[in-house]
Amino acid sequence: MRKKKLRLAVFISGTGRTLKNFIDLIERKKLSAEIPVVISSLPNVSGLQYAEEEGAMDIEIVERSKFDNLRDFSEANFEICRRYGVHYVVLAGYLRFLEIPKDFENRVLNIHPSLIPSFCGRGYYGNIVHAKAIEHGVKLSGCTVHFVDQDYDSGPIIVQRAVEVKDDDTPDSLNQRVFEAECLAYPEAIELLAEGRVTVHGRRVRIAPPEIDEFDM
Ligand code: GRF
Repeated sequence: MRKKKLRLAVFISGTGRTLKNFIDLIERKKLSAEIPVVISSLPNVSGLQYAEEEGAMDIEIVERSKFDNLRDFSEANFEICRRYGVHYVVLAGYLRFLEIPKDFENRVLNIHPSLIPSFCGRGYYGNIVHAKAIEHGVKLSGCTVHFVDQDYDSGPIIVQRAVEVKDDDTPDSLNQRVFEAECLAYPEAIELLAEGRVTVHGRRVRIAPPEIDEFDM
């Protein structure tokens, strides 16, 4: 199967470090993707500067407070994604709960800064996750890329990367090292999808071995 160039909608709520990583990798031809639209849950977040600088991305702001209920809010977001014909929605530091419509099942990805199912779920975001990991005394933390289902941080897991927790770690220092792992894990998951190697079987995601190009042999 030939590698596909995936059309991604990237959802942000804040600093947009993840979006920036995708933009850099796409520019360096290290990620088989394009980002026609960035959706922010808030206006004026600093992450939008990356989309503006890049130039070719449309920006949409969809605020939860403008909608009476979760369904209408979610629908407004996914309607934009349908309009742009995206293959996948990539949550990148996005802090709003979404109801996933049928046609986007297993097409919405998130990255969480711990090894799920530890230190995740409602209320676990930002440095809270790292503070809890340090407080608990785990020796390994890391990050998890997963499909988004109808609960917090609970969908099928695509990629995980472990990061050592050091004796003198603070939430900030651990955050920084986990984020370095995220910059590898998220693109890795997207590449696997672009290569058509990911299948979902209940809670389990299977990754098919890479196809060997007969002309390379
Ligand atoms: C990271 O902690 C990631 O795990 C979580 O959001 C943070 C990145 O946000 N999903 P941003 O890309 O810096 O806005």
